[in-house]
Amino acid sequence: MTTVTDEWVKVAEVADIPPLSGRVVRTKSGDIALFHAGDGNFYAIDNRCPHKGGPLSEGIVHDCHVTCPLHNWVLNLKTGEAEAPDEGKVATYEVKVKDGAVYLKLGGA
Ligand code: FES
Repeated sequence: MTTVTDEWVKVAEVADIPPLSGRVVRTKSGDIALFHAGDGNFYAIDNRCPHKGGPLSEGIVHDCHVTCPLHNWVLNLKTGEAEAPDEGKVATYEVKVKDGAVYLKLGGA
């Protein structure tokens, strides 16, 4: 169930996403990949790899990066940028954790 609080949308319980894993969040404007990173924080980026659209939520999470499951590009979860030598970028979304739940900031510009 999704609860809307201002523009923050509850998308998961913290306990649902173990460290170093991710899941897809389906929104009206497209799929977003939500990750529990190695630094203990949650990050959200577009689910489509900038290379050929691979599902990033199914990638391997390491530190604050995810490796795309299709051709192993590595994306920085904080910036959405591909690590060199690859080039590309996905959108990032603000995430907050409150009372054991994970919220995504959706809408806006
Ligand atoms: S689609 Fe992600 S590395 Fe190719």
